[in-house]
Parts: sequence; C-alpha cells; structure tokens
Amino acid sequence: MEFKNINTMRKLNNGVKIPCVGYGTFRTPEDVAERAVADAIEVGYRHIDTAAVYGNEEAVGRGIKDAGINRKELFITSKLWNTERGYASTKKALQDSLDRLGLDYLDLYLIHWPANEKQFSADAKRLNAETWRAMEEMYHEGKIRAIGLSNFMPHHVAELMETAEIKPMVDQIEVHPGWPHTEEIKKLQAMDLLVEAWAPLGGQGSSVLENETLQQIAARHHKSVAQVCLRWVLQQGVLPLPKSVHVSRMQQNTDFFDFELTPDEMKQISALRDLGGQCADPDEVDY
Ligand SMILES: NC(=O)c1ccc[n+]([C@@H]2O[C@H](COP(=O)([O-])OP(=O)(O)OC[C@H]3O[C@@H](n4cnc5c(N)ncnc54)[C@H](OP(=O)(O)O)[C@@H]3O)[C@@H](O)[C@H]2O)c1
Repeated sequence: MEFKNINTMRKLNNGVKIPCVGYGTFRTPEDVAERAVADAIEVGYRHIDTAAVYGNEEAVGRGIKDAGINRKELFITSKLWNTERGYASTKKALQDSLDRLGLDYLDLYLIHWPANEKQFSADAKRLNAETWRAMEEMYHEGKIRAIGLSNFMPHHVAELMETAEIKPMVDQIEVHPGWPHTEEIKKLQAMDLLVEAWAPLGGQGSSVLENETLQQIAARHHKSVAQVCLRWVLQQGVLPLPKSVHVSRMQQNTDFFDFELTPDEMKQISALRDLGGQCADPDEVDY
C-alpha cells in the first residue's frame, strides 16, 4: 500500500482503521505529558500510544481534551499492566484506564507482556488465556474497538490461539536497528496481525542514532537517522511509534514519506547488531 503521511490509514483484521504512525508516551512524565500530547496532536498525530504502567494516563487524557479534536478522529491505545492479568482484574484495569484518560472507549487495548513460564510455570498459559477472555468480552461490549498483544512472540500467539475465540488484531514488539526481529515480524504478519514497533529509534539512551552506517544512509537521502529508522520500520509493513517531547523532533518524526530505502539499504540496516535498547526477551523478563 502507498503511505502518504502519518495518517494514512491501515486496516486491522477486524476492519478498524488505524493511522500508520503513532505517537509514543513512555517515560513522558505526568507533568510533561499533557503539553506533549496536545503538541503532538497539533503537529498532526492522531494515533496516541500510552499504557497504565507509564503513570501518565491522566495527563495524556488532559492533553487529548486540550487539543480539542473530535474524539472520533483520534486513535487511542492503552495497555494492561502485568500485575492486572486474569479475568476480573483485566476488566477492572480497563475501566481504571478509561477513567484516568477521561474516555468512554479505547481504540486499542493491549496485553502489555505475556505471562511467561519463568515466573508462572505451567500457569502462564492459563493466565494469558483468562486475560484474553476478558479482553474478548470487553471487545464484544464495545468498550474497545480492537484488542491485541504486546511483546508476544509468535509462539506465545500460537499458544493463545489454542483457546482464543477472537484473533488479536495487533502485536506491539520492540523493533529498531540492532534488534530487528525480522523473522518474528514475518511470522506475526503471516498470522494477519498488524505489527507495531516500540522504541523504533532504539529508545532513550541507545546508540542507534549515532551509528555510522545509519548516518551514511541518512546523508545519502538528506534525512536524519531517526527518519531512516522510521522509514525502515514502515517499509517492513510495521507501524512505528516514535516518542519525543520536543515539537521539532515530533515534526521531524512525521517527515519520512518522501524517500525510499533501497533493498540493499534495508538489508544493511536489518543486519546491524548491538546498538543498545532494552532488547528484552519476553520469556526471560521478571516483570
Ligand atoms: N509495549 C511495550 O512494551 C513498549 C515499551 C517501550 C515503549 N513502548 C511504546 O513505544 C514508544 C516509543 O518507544 P520509546 O519511547 O522507548 O523510544 P523511541 O521512540 O525509540 O525513542 C525515544 C527517544 O529518542 C529521542 N528522540 C525522539 N525523536 C528524536 C529525533 N528525531 N532525533 C533525536 N532524538 C529523538 C527522545 O527524546 P526526546 O523525547 O527528549 O525528544 C527519546 O529519548 C513509547 O513511547 C511507548 O509508547 C512500548
């Protein structure tokens, strides 16, 4: 498909439309998030990504109100934190997020991380299935327009599908130069999930933006390294979620639709390793 700008719509497997770039809010403190989200909407973002664990949903909600845009024109995502897994607590957690955001529905709600066997042994599968059953019911009730996953690798999705009635629409995973997840992306896309990239610039404190290979490619296209990262994500059919609290960078991160990386450049970027970022293995995390 042809992407013209950050609000070119993609279609999820349930027909819901989603702007092809989202604005991230991880590590945006409560006292900054209201202004940052209002600025991002002013810059042109219509897709906002937050999570209960970011501790900023109230401020994100105020920023959305300040922007004065019709709610229907916005696409708002939040995520269920790990301590709230399970049928009853998932239902309560969604309502809590809606209350904090001051919204009566979400466009997308994600399970933030799969329960893993390292922490839950044989119970992990049951816990994920119960959480998903609550997500399915809330979807049927119309409180969420789409439901999905985050940090689920293809084997977690396959396991969930053994009991799921509704196929997840989205999987949001860590994708940036140095941590490309190339094979996983292909598998998830083959399962008809839209893959979203968190930390598409490597996240705070990584060395992605200083990488020489990326700098050379960026110079060739008269673009910044951040723009090259976002283009590399987009050209894989993945939806990037860049975060910045600075208006000039918010703007820069919308401007990557006027150039194309060659197949060779795509390969070169995908082959980079060890540039920092969280590089978290969902089966190994302790949270
Ligand atoms: N599902 C998950 O488990 C998960 C995990 C992490 C993140 N996420 C989501 O994904 C979003 C993006 O990830 P992220 O925030 O970790 O990292 P990111 O977007 O890859 O990088 C953000 C960092 O890059 C800086 N930056 C942004 N644009 C820049 C530019 N054009 N030039 C130079 N520096 C730039 C930002 O600084 P300034 O803000 O100071 O400009 C910030 O330090 C999050 O905000 C969140 O919504 C999800």
